[in-house]
Amino acid sequence: MGDTIAVAGKGGTGKTTVSSLIVSKLLADDRTPILAVDADPNANLNEWLGVEIVSTLGDLQADLVQKSREEIPAGMDKRRFLHYHMQTCLAEESGFDLIAMGRSEGPGCYCHVNDILRDFLEELTPNYRYVVMDNEAGMEHMSRRTARDVQILFVVSDGSPIGIRAAKRINELRESLEINVEQAYLLLNRATEEIAEALKDEIAESGLELLATIPTDANLTEFSLQRRPLMELADDSPAKAAVYGALERVLI
Ligand SMILES: Nc1ncnc2c1ncn2[C@@H]1O[C@H](COP(=O)(O)OP(=O)(O)OP(=O)(O)O)[C@@H](O)[C@H]1O
Ligand SMILES: [Mg+2]
Repeated sequence: MGDTIAVAGKGGTGKTTVSSLIVSKLLADDRTPILAVDADPNANLNEWLGVEIVSTLGDLQADLVQKSREEIPAGMDKRRFLHYHMQTCLAEESGFDLIAMGRSEGPGCYCHVNDILRDFLEELTPNYRYVVMDNEAGMEHMSRRTARDVQILFVVSDGSPIGIRAAKRINELRESLEINVEQAYLLLNRATEEIAEALKDEIAESGLELLATIPTDANLTEFSLQRRPLMELADDSPAKAAVYGALERVLI
């Protein structure tokens, strides 16, 4: 079974950027196949990866609720119906696939459907060498993953004391959510070595090991504005070089 690399952090810290660069690095190293999971309801990992999403698991869930009121083909139970359609949520690219969780709120009780969705992910993940998860600020999606552990957790923070305190809380969440993490690291985004040095007490207090600082990268702003996939970012682009260097130190 492949390794799960999860990325977490408070809003806007750079989770999706880092997740995309991780996928890009794994692809460059031929560490494939990769499953990229966009666990953020405001899915945009696909944009960074240059992939079009046909439908999210949340869309499918809503569809199922609708269909159950109308009609599911005779002889097909809900679970089979859902599994059949889940394949359509999987965007297949060269070397990696992408699945987006999307939103799952809505009228009625979805508990049963949620269980089916989780089972599907559990079923899917053993087919990949790496699973890269871009999480929303909390890590609720990971807590629903019962059978699998997270090998590497990257908590992304900005270079501020408040940011590091938020990273500390996220790191503590994994205990209350009972997420089994083998290694957890802090990535300080839009920061410098000097900032990291000035924040060393806060970092020590966070319980997270600082793996790397990622500099502010003007190319990212440009790519973001032009909606260009980060795979096309030049290898010497500062943020890319920092994330690649960090991964080289922790990937076995
Ligand atoms: N090192 C950096 N240098 C310059 N711009 C950056 C850097 N890191 C991220 N950004 C920019 O900051 C914005 C937010 O980044 P990103 O979407 O990765 O954050 P996020 O944590 O995923 O946000 P959200 O919580 O909304 O999902 C993007 O426009 C991205 O291009
Ligand atoms: Mg994001």
